[in-house]
Amino acid sequence: MATGDSREDRLDALLEETRVFAPPAAFAAAANVRDPEVYERAAADPAAFWAEQAAGLRWMRPYTDVLAGAVPHVRWFAGGRLNVADNCVDRHCEGPRRNKAALLWVAESGETRTITYQQLQREVARCANVLRSLGVRRGDRVGIYMGMVPEAVVAMLACARIGAPHTVVFGGFSAEALRERLVDAQCKVLITQDGAYRRGNVVALLQNAASAVRGAPPVERVLVLRRIGAPALAAELPAGMQVDWQQAMADASTDCPCEPMDSEDVLYILYTSGTTGKPKGIVHTTAGYLLGVATTHRWIFDLKEDDVYWCTADIGWVTGHSYVLYGPLCNGATTVLYEGTPDYPGRDRHWRIVEELGVNVYYTAPTTIRTFMRWGPQEPAHADLSSLRLLGSVGEPINPEAWMWYHEHIGGGRCPIVDTWWQTETGMIMITPLPGIVPTKPGSATRPFPAVGAEVLDERGLPVGPGAGGNLVLTQPWPAMARTIFGDDERFVRQYWSRYSGKYLTGDGARVDADGYFWLLGRVDDVMNVSGHRLSTYEIESALVDHASVAEAAVIGRFDAVKGQAIAAFVTLKETGSGGVGGAGTDGLKADLKQHVGRKIGPIARPDDIFFTAELPKTRSGKIMRRLLRDIAEGRALGDTTTLADPAVVQSLKEQYEEAGEGAD
Ligand code: PRX
Repeated sequence: MATGDSREDRLDALLEETRVFAPPAAFAAAANVRDPEVYERAAADPAAFWAEQAAGLRWMRPYTDVLAGAVPHVRWFAGGRLNVADNCVDRHCEGPRRNKAALLWVAESGETRTITYQQLQREVARCANVLRSLGVRRGDRVGIYMGMVPEAVVAMLACARIGAPHTVVFGGFSAEALRERLVDAQCKVLITQDGAYRRGNVVALLQNAASAVRGAPPVERVLVLRRIGAPALAAELPAGMQVDWQQAMADASTDCPCEPMDSEDVLYILYTSGTTGKPKGIVHTTAGYLLGVATTHRWIFDLKEDDVYWCTADIGWVTGHSYVLYGPLCNGATTVLYEGTPDYPGRDRHWRIVEELGVNVYYTAPTTIRTFMRWGPQEPAHADLSSLRLLGSVGEPINPEAWMWYHEHIGGGRCPIVDTWWQTETGMIMITPLPGIVPTKPGSATRPFPAVGAEVLDERGLPVGPGAGGNLVLTQPWPAMARTIFGDDERFVRQYWSRYSGKYLTGDGARVDADGYFWLLGRVDDVMNVSGHRLSTYEIESALVDHASVAEAAVIGRFDAVKGQAIAAFVTLKETGSGGVGGAGTDGLKADLKQHVGRKIGPIARPDDIFFTAELPKTRSGKIMRRLLRDIAEGRALGDTTTLADPAVVQSLKEQYEEAGEGAD
């Protein structure tokens, strides 16, 4: 199985030399989940397991069935009603958590803000009233395009409070990417900010938002937070369309009852890259999602009442939704939000924050860990990290070297590491250790969470034996599962639920070892994972082909030691076009193409390498053979080339690659 990752090649050796880390005795003794039998009990009756957990939510009307219908169109907690903002905020204000910090915010400048549950409640209610005054009604979609500021959390919860599904678009996406999502979701209102701080610079969010909205007719109003302090109004938009956040909030009442939502009402839509150029609006609903993220958060991160918990993900990704906001706040936790990057003003920024806030649980991505490794152990060594009790990893397979470095230099050898596998579509963590009872092996996400069913199947749908690779599938419904793709249920069914009858196809390859541990191998489809960001090869190809000089493009993810994957683009130029003469490209054109992709999608999608080629390797039926391009970009011997229409094409590309050296430009 081709995975676009050198991990599989190394896995045999790895499995042999693997060390096993038992949960430290002191940790295990105090862990929230201490009884290993929980796995058998949950497997015997998954519905009973989830029902038991559901008693921890505040319901406005009890449900009648834990699970109704058949996959993929199931209904969890059918007949029940609750409100997510009520569960994440209001109910905590009725007891001792009232004055507990809900959010600890650290601005890039170093300014900090503590927002208690009671303060958060008032802000959310105010914002909900502002949205209502802008005409947002239950069921209307609201776009959110913001940085890591507390107001982003307030905005999301305000939407939940009035039953308006939000669609958060990562602040690193371009105006065009934003517009596409706003139009697809038919957002009525967009919430943004004048600018966001990043490494001391200002990212022009409002400018992008204004340009996006001009081509997105469903958006009627734009609510603008003044974060930078510059005049908030964008010249490009009619003044009447823009509303000043600070002013509107000052005028709004704090009285706003929570809308009773059906369990299956939509909580949010989050766009993610699939295998076509068009991003998919993944739909998550109310009760099951909330239950899934709250339960996994409490069990996997071993949450204690006085913990300071920090998940470093941006609110624009699913990890930000599930494990910065909804899971932690539903559990009444204190969750940290940091506005900036790990290297600003110094490369010890995260460790200074851990020290200052006394962070107990830290959850980040392997690409970030590998970046820290490159910066060296002296950065964390200067900070007091003794408050840390547990570490987490998410977003891509973690290589054992990074796992060991994390364990030693961040965890001081004493903190268990939870390597959590999941996806935008799964909503919640699916494969992970429970840190008090599951021994860990560096590089393995270990085993499915209780009541979660996972298998690795071969092409015929049969489970592969220990050590063999195959397709990772999920075998039974789980409460936080995506319910559909917004506006395209047919694609949802086809993509995830058709390959193996009744089972969810993850798109990831995996192996299971003799102990039943899962080893993730990366994507088996045309989805890339670049620094933990999910991108489709087709999306980037479309952006390249949109450039006046480009005739055709093929994009692949090649192995990269820090980012996991880097983007390599193979480009054929038009015979006549700016910068390209007869198919030959210049360095100037390379730079221009990178910039073009950055403008179309966002800086995260800019190719790392660009190769110009007179032709792309294709099969006789005209299909581009990405597998061969991957071999070329990773400097490997070429795989089977017998189906190629013209074998000379890859040979010349390979020579070009070797001449340029890896990371050619
Ligand atoms: O390939 C898997 C990888 O990230 C993909 C999901 O990406 P996204 O929907 O953007 O969500 C990222 C955050 C949950 C998966 O299909 N992935 C995520 N976590 C892991 C992982 N691969 C290996 N190990 C993980 N812990």
